[in-house]
Amino acid sequence: MGRRLEGRAAWISGAASGIGEGVARRFAAEGAGVALVDVDRDRLDAVRRSIEEAGGRAVATVADVASERAVRGSIDAAVAAFGRLDVLVNCAGIVHIGPLHEYDEADWDRLMGVNLKSIFLSVKHGLPHLRRAGRGYVVNVGSISSLVGQAATPAYTASKSAVLGLTRSIALDYAADGLRCNCICPGITDTPMLRHHLAKDGDPDVALANRLRRVPLRVALTPDDVARAALYFSCEDSAGVTGTSLVVDGGYLAAAEWDSCGTDGTNPRDAR
Ligand SMILES: NC(=O)c1ccc[n+]([C@@H]2O[C@H](COP(=O)([O-])OP(=O)(O)OC[C@H]3O[C@@H](n4cnc5c(N)ncnc54)[C@H](O)[C@@H]3O)[C@@H](O)[C@H]2O)c1
Repeated sequence: MGRRLEGRAAWISGAASGIGEGVARRFAAEGAGVALVDVDRDRLDAVRRSIEEAGGRAVATVADVASERAVRGSIDAAVAAFGRLDVLVNCAGIVHIGPLHEYDEADWDRLMGVNLKSIFLSVKHGLPHLRRAGRGYVVNVGSISSLVGQAATPAYTASKSAVLGLTRSIALDYAADGLRCNCICPGITDTPMLRHHLAKDGDPDVALANRLRRVPLRVALTPDDVARAALYFSCEDSAGVTGTSLVVDGGYLAAAEWDSCGTDGTNPRDAR
């Protein structure tokens, strides 16, 4: 089978780390020119260099996705580099932990700016180019907390629910432009964000093992597990699919029990 994104160009936010980095590597390997966008200049440059060393095409733009000027500039840079734009992957995200009454107004606004407003901005400025491409793909990264509640992260949970709602609106309003918009809802994915989050509960490995007791597949997802779902939504493998979400969570949301291993208590992946 040929490479799925040959000759295409994708703008990917949060591309310096974790899931966004995984999407960038996977898309570059599938033939896309990748426009990497992040606030972390050093890691962004390292990812760009490593994609180029692997034979991929990449440009990097330092941009805060909560800033309209910065998002517009990063999209202009993508089009300048590749002459077109086919895919937007909105992956940049932040978490703020704590009860709502302890938030500052600025904490709330910042989180909503990065996790939600960023999607409005990238679609607003990416749309003319996606229309020109004939077919356009917008992939938003939500979370399992787009679908269920999550303790101690009220703004994050609200933002990720809104990401799913905005996904549906974009899908409806731009379907006639040949644009499809879908949302990926990852579960526990082993990234620097997760490790940082877990370190707050003591030993991150112990905290992770404890959380994975809730996951039927018993393992944390890799960024590439999520990237392959993003790839599906970014090409005609998903023709006919728009305004929906794909949960990639190792079975987390399928389980009602806390400890959800198989009936004989073994790890299903041990059998492979
Ligand atoms: N890791 C998980 O378990 C998990 C689960 C569900 C959803 N998600 C979502 O996946 C996405 C990626 O998360 P991750 O785990 O890879 O995190 P990560 O922290 O490893 O990567 C996030 C990247 O976004 C960048 N970023 C943050 N603020 C930015 C801004 N204002 N402008 C541009 N870039 C910015 C960071 O510098 C970082 O490189 C997020 O939207 C997150 O909410 C993660």
